[in-house]
Amino acid sequence: MTDLMEKITSLCKRRGFIFQSSEIYGGVEALWDYGPLGSLLKDNIKNEWLKKFVQTKNDVVLIDGTCLMHPNVWKASGHLEHFTDPLVECKNCHSRFRADHMAAGRFIGEGKAKAKNQCPQCGGKDFTSPKQFNLMFKTFLGPIEDEAHMTYLRPETAQSMFTNFKNIQELMRLKLPFGIAQIGRCFRNEITTGDFTFRTREFDIAEIEYFVKPGEDEKWFEYWVGEWENFFLDLGLKKENLRRYEHPKEALSHYSKRTVDIEYKFPFGWSELAGIANRTDYDLKRHSEYSRQDLRYYDEEEKKKYYPYVIEPTVGIERIVLALLCDAYEEIKGGRTKTTKPTKEVEILLKLDKKIAPIKIAVLPLVKNKPELVKKAKEVYQLLKPHFICQYDELGSIGRRYRRGDEIGVICSITCDFQTLKDDTVTLRDRDSMRQIRVEIVKLQEIITKILEGEEFLKLGKLVK
Ligand code: GAP
Repeated sequence: MTDLMEKITSLCKRRGFIFQSSEIYGGVEALWDYGPLGSLLKDNIKNEWLKKFVQTKNDVVLIDGTCLMHPNVWKASGHLEHFTDPLVECKNCHSRFRADHMAAGRFIGEGKAKAKNQCPQCGGKDFTSPKQFNLMFKTFLGPIEDEAHMTYLRPETAQSMFTNFKNIQELMRLKLPFGIAQIGRCFRNEITTGDFTFRTREFDIAEIEYFVKPGEDEKWFEYWVGEWENFFLDLGLKKENLRRYEHPKEALSHYSKRTVDIEYKFPFGWSELAGIANRTDYDLKRHSEYSRQDLRYYDEEEKKKYYPYVIEPTVGIERIVLALLCDAYEEIKGGRTKTTKPTKEVEILLKLDKKIAPIKIAVLPLVKNKPELVKKAKEVYQLLKPHFICQYDELGSIGRRYRRGDEIGVICSITCDFQTLKDDTVTLRDRDSMRQIRVEIVKLQEIITKILEGEEFLKLGKLVK
């Protein structure tokens, strides 16, 4: 793992963003639990996604499909046949790897690029020939564990948007073009894992199946690449860390006519953050064929039925989390404040965007051994709690508490000091500039709302010199 990835992994564990699943039992590879801060961060990303792609669009509706579906779904979708990776086994130590990753000399989990065709575990050079390994997790519906009751945990959310296409189109009286959106849990039995949360076996996908008239698909494809890219920029990712990657024809998924990935410059190299695929009419045709239901769309203007084409923008929520953490992470050697004595300490600043930072406000009494200050700070905390995600912190010096907030991206810190006891005002400290303003407690809710909406901090109160 790179130095930066190690630091981010350590911060995530130390501050309650992300932990290894089942850690008390030694952990499980490629499964991660999101802690108090990580789960808020994920929710904020999902909410921004819903706001941008469902709430403010006129033509996109949301659904919440099941993770288990009829087994024939996976026959029709082509996943049973094609959702595979080539697997090789080292004949010496019996470790298993993805043949394509091995050929590229890339072993993410090991954190070191080994020479091509050499086992990253034991250095062995003798491997079995590649076998296709299906990435879907098998399970059984009901108490009988036989072939007839076998199904799979979904590896993508897309399929329930296809199986519900006709239902939703008719029920909601939708006309082309329109989209069905979903955020949901997906499962893949990945062979190569590692690089923290980059490639995991359980994760949330946010995707849209956007149904269009055949012939208009290429225009809509371009539109959705732009929309997807803008979403990541709106979340605060730096433009220079994003790029497009066009999949070569021979590497396209079985359903795709064209795929563009949006890649992020992760510390371990440019890698897929999200994708946009032109799935053509593949899925609706296949589900019509396998279910014997007519899933064609009736075009009232043209008075004819046809299978719409589908443009699919997709992204994994955890990949967004990882990209945001990498993008936002800054280290300041010797400390941020000029007034405090320069130290050898390295201060961490997590410059997460206001919209997605998990904790917006920290409420702090200047010192914890003055009961009147503690009481006042707790009152302010209770006052703000129904409106913003806040934390109360009284442990250690005020400087140390500011730094603890900076490390997790707290947008503003409110301090109750001795003047608060006289005039019911508090100081508000801005995370990025470290400037402070003094404001009245009664106006706090309004002022914080303005700050979170992006108004200029220094205009909202009296500057503290
Ligand atoms: N319905 C299309 C589809 O599922 P995909 O490229 O296989 O496309 C969608 O996956 C997104 O899910 C990817 O762009 C990536 O962000 C995320 N993703 C895929 N595999 C993942 C894994 N093993 N762990 C975490 N995220 C993953």
